[in-house]
Amino acid sequence: MVVEAAVSGALDRVVPAEFAGADPVVRRSEHADFQANAALAQAKRIGSSPRELAGQLLAAMDAPEMFADAAVSGPGFVNLTLADAAIWGQVAERAGDARLGAGLPEAGRRTVIDYSAPNIAKEMHVGHLRTTIIGDALARILGFLGADVIRQNHLGDWGTQFGMLIQYLDEHPEAHWRQQELSGQDATASMSTLDTLYRAARAQFDTDEGFVERARSRVVALQAGDTATLATWRELVAQSQQAFQAIYSRLGVLLAPEDAAGESTYNPYLAEVVEELLATGVAVESDGAVCVFFDDIIGPHGAPVPLIVRKSDGGYGYATTDLATIRYRVRELKAERILYVVDARQAQHFQMVFATARRAGWLGEDVEAVHVPFGTVLGPDGRPFKTRSGGTVRLGDLLDAAVDRARAVVTEKDPDLDPQVLDQVVQAAGIGAVKYADLSNSRIKDYVFDVERMVSFTGDTGVYLQYAHTRIRSILRRLPAEQVEHATVDVTVALRPAERALALLLDEFAQVLAEVAATLEPHRLCTYLFALAKAFTDFYDTCPVVKADTDSERGNRIVLCRLAGDTLAQGLGLLGITAPARM
Ligand code: ARG
Repeated sequence: MVVEAAVSGALDRVVPAEFAGADPVVRRSEHADFQANAALAQAKRIGSSPRELAGQLLAAMDAPEMFADAAVSGPGFVNLTLADAAIWGQVAERAGDARLGAGLPEAGRRTVIDYSAPNIAKEMHVGHLRTTIIGDALARILGFLGADVIRQNHLGDWGTQFGMLIQYLDEHPEAHWRQQELSGQDATASMSTLDTLYRAARAQFDTDEGFVERARSRVVALQAGDTATLATWRELVAQSQQAFQAIYSRLGVLLAPEDAAGESTYNPYLAEVVEELLATGVAVESDGAVCVFFDDIIGPHGAPVPLIVRKSDGGYGYATTDLATIRYRVRELKAERILYVVDARQAQHFQMVFATARRAGWLGEDVEAVHVPFGTVLGPDGRPFKTRSGGTVRLGDLLDAAVDRARAVVTEKDPDLDPQVLDQVVQAAGIGAVKYADLSNSRIKDYVFDVERMVSFTGDTGVYLQYAHTRIRSILRRLPAEQVEHATVDVTVALRPAERALALLLDEFAQVLAEVAATLEPHRLCTYLFALAKAFTDFYDTCPVVKADTDSERGNRIVLCRLAGDTLAQGLGLLGITAPARM
């Protein structure tokens, strides 16, 4: 942003050298285009008064022609209003930049993002929605800003439950679960069969002692690498992965089979992790188990809460796996930062895992590990989302509901849409609606999954933004392609207020992305895009494009339209939402 640079320069010229580089504190303002609050922030430190410093700041600004108005106001604000030509100049610069002004603040930063992580032999359900969508948006945004992103899908593919399931499948050869035995069913449907069998296995496990024994020995066989058991396990993993991939492609997320590194990946290192923790004194034996204790993690009754890294029966659990994983991500993947996009309820787990890894020296000072928590998806009754009969809501069903609703809404709006186009639009709108509704809510808060609201053409919805984008494209389609392509900015044209508001907002794109990267909060980008779509509407209501008075005016407005369309499409794309050209 040019204003920020101008104030920064002036500030460095008026403060003593040791205070150089301070934040110019430039904000949008109601009284001018911008307000610089640096004088208020810095005066005390350098032993001056804010008003005096503000005056000096103003006098030290170079390129005064950039501003139509610059004045000190109140206790020491500097109000700045850009000259029309400066704003048009900025528009022209943005229009020629494929990155729309975005820099590379994350350049080269190797960032592992752990997201989605569903469990094998079970269907993806509503609980996997947010991690998948938020994780993917972060992967896209950080990647766009230059980070070297490594996606990791920490599939739940290991544990005693698989011994139980495999034993059950073996004892029930009549239970057809293999994809090839389920002719005509897609991967998602075959998962449903497995999910049912898994429940049946669990039910037998809970009531039949003989089965418990047989399941236990099957766990031992699996862990010992018994060939037949492993073969079935591999089939279960492969078939589940296919089903997950089907959902990922429906959702349009980046996760690919290569990104999967399930819990089983780390199985060979669990013993060694615990040995090392014991050897370094980070973990201690306690009642036959191996545990790590923390000064600051105390349970409700005042007793310390341990992280159990080896159970008294010698088994390893979720925590041990996460420790082996963190070690691997730092040592082998060379992570400089690891993001765990996992439900807020696991906060304490990650707090303990990170602290343990730090004490063990696996997580050095130079590596950041961040739990990126999120709230719960609620049903219409405001309670965690369940089916009418109280069961888990399948992710596929949620997406179906949104796409069905989108079909109704889109057909009503545009009954003449070509059936093939309609199908594409409906998918884009339904899936986009679910993603936008999720991302636009503040990450840490719970939100209600309300299909009606999320696929509405009005209000803060994905459909509204997609529609705003198609409107811009359709305006441009009404003009000769030649004219749109070669439109240039004439900086001498007087700016109308709505053009000014739109142009200033377009200039904020880079800053908003940087904020999302710093806070890991994609809703900031949603808020921005919604404001942009509204600013465009105001602009279009008051500033005719096709029927502009002069060629210069038309040219400038075409460039604004193009830029607004590109920024909306790019912004939605970074959220993982497609922006069709028509709908
Ligand atoms: N599979 C786990 C679950 O469903 C989530 C795993 C999250 N990632 C991790 N490294 N612990 O709860």
